[in-house]
Amino acid sequence: MDIILQTWNIGQIEIKNRLVRSATVEGLSTEDGRPTQRLIDKTTELAIGGVGLIIAGTAYISFEGQADKNTTGLHNDHVIQPLSLMCWVVREAGGILVSQLLHCGSTVDLEILDQKEALFGPSAILDPVTNFPVEELSKDHIHKIINDYGKAAIRAKKAGFHAVQIHAAHGYLINQFLSKSRNHRRDQYGGSVKNRALLLYQVYEEIRGAVGPDFPIMVKMSAHDGFSGGVMPEESVEVALTLDTLGIDAIEVSAGTPEGEKAGGWDHIIPAPFPEGSFFKYALQIKDKVECPVITVEGWRDPLKIMKALEKIDAVSMSRPFIREPDLIKRWSGGDLSPAQCISCNKCLELISKSGLGCIFHNKKRDAG
Ligand SMILES: Cc1cc2nc3c(=O)[nH]c(=O)nc-3n(C[C@H](O)[C@H](O)[C@H](O)COP(=O)(O)O)c2cc1C
Repeated sequence: MDIILQTWNIGQIEIKNRLVRSATVEGLSTEDGRPTQRLIDKTTELAIGGVGLIIAGTAYISFEGQADKNTTGLHNDHVIQPLSLMCWVVREAGGILVSQLLHCGSTVDLEILDQKEALFGPSAILDPVTNFPVEELSKDHIHKIINDYGKAAIRAKKAGFHAVQIHAAHGYLINQFLSKSRNHRRDQYGGSVKNRALLLYQVYEEIRGAVGPDFPIMVKMSAHDGFSGGVMPEESVEVALTLDTLGIDAIEVSAGTPEGEKAGGWDHIIPAPFPEGSFFKYALQIKDKVECPVITVEGWRDPLKIMKALEKIDAVSMSRPFIREPDLIKRWSGGDLSPAQCISCNKCLELISKSGLGCIFHNKKRDAG
């Protein structure tokens, strides 16, 4: 357990252990993006349960960029005060809280589709997952989105989050620009990897300019889109290297997109059975090239395997295990090293829009699941 309980840093912030709660949409905010008491309680539970670094579920930078119903907003100043209450409570419980900034592009949950005037993306195509038409973003519109990222990051900082994470994974807008399958542009945002990653670099620079040099900025990337026409690992290494040079404070390496699954590949939330740490190899390829901390996500359940992984990587993040067992790290630290009870059934995904994030097996023993 010693290796899990080692401290590490994101920028100047010291994290008390090497386990991270990967961003997890909660569906527990109001329609105008404010956190409810249930969201505050659930996030605080993670801090009390000993999670070193908690990445909150996506926060939309504008209504246009909202992917799921009842998610948290960073789209206007009215959210700062209610979010500051959440940040304060989580800090008091010893937690380090990160806000994940999102523009969804054309990847939206069907439940929210009727609220959208139009769906936007790098190129005018039919969205490969929903088949809805996507409008090509003009350069002015792209500049507005970049500006919205900066403003959202300032709000997160004012509210008291310790850091922000740019969501560049899982088929959302920045991932759409990175992927040749969706980005057919002929201007400076299309073509080479450098061009397709320009939006991500500009978003990073905008946020850095807005929050200053000392406020940590992280990124979550899909190192492999999960199918042959999408983002490939060698492209992701190039992007990660550039972000590292620009000054990114940590890279969380995921893989897979909803499009990947549709194309016969894989999505980013693989149901069981699957090998533990399915995307670890992509994280290691990036770790090999960059200076900043690298975090691996997907399928980690067994503390013994996690400890082995931590010999090669800075941190391991998990989502589903903490839904079922928010106090998982306390359990492991207390000497019960049996694997996380999560069976990766993905029922948690269905609960988000019905009653808010939860686990149907919460408080039940592993055998019962
Ligand atoms: C209910 C649920 C909500 C999720 N919401 C987000 C999210 O807001 N942002 C994100 O980057 N990934 C999200 N993910 C993906 C997870 O962060 C993680 O990458 C994935 O579940 C694999 O990790 P795990 O096997 O530990 O669950 C979500 C996953 C689940 C199950």
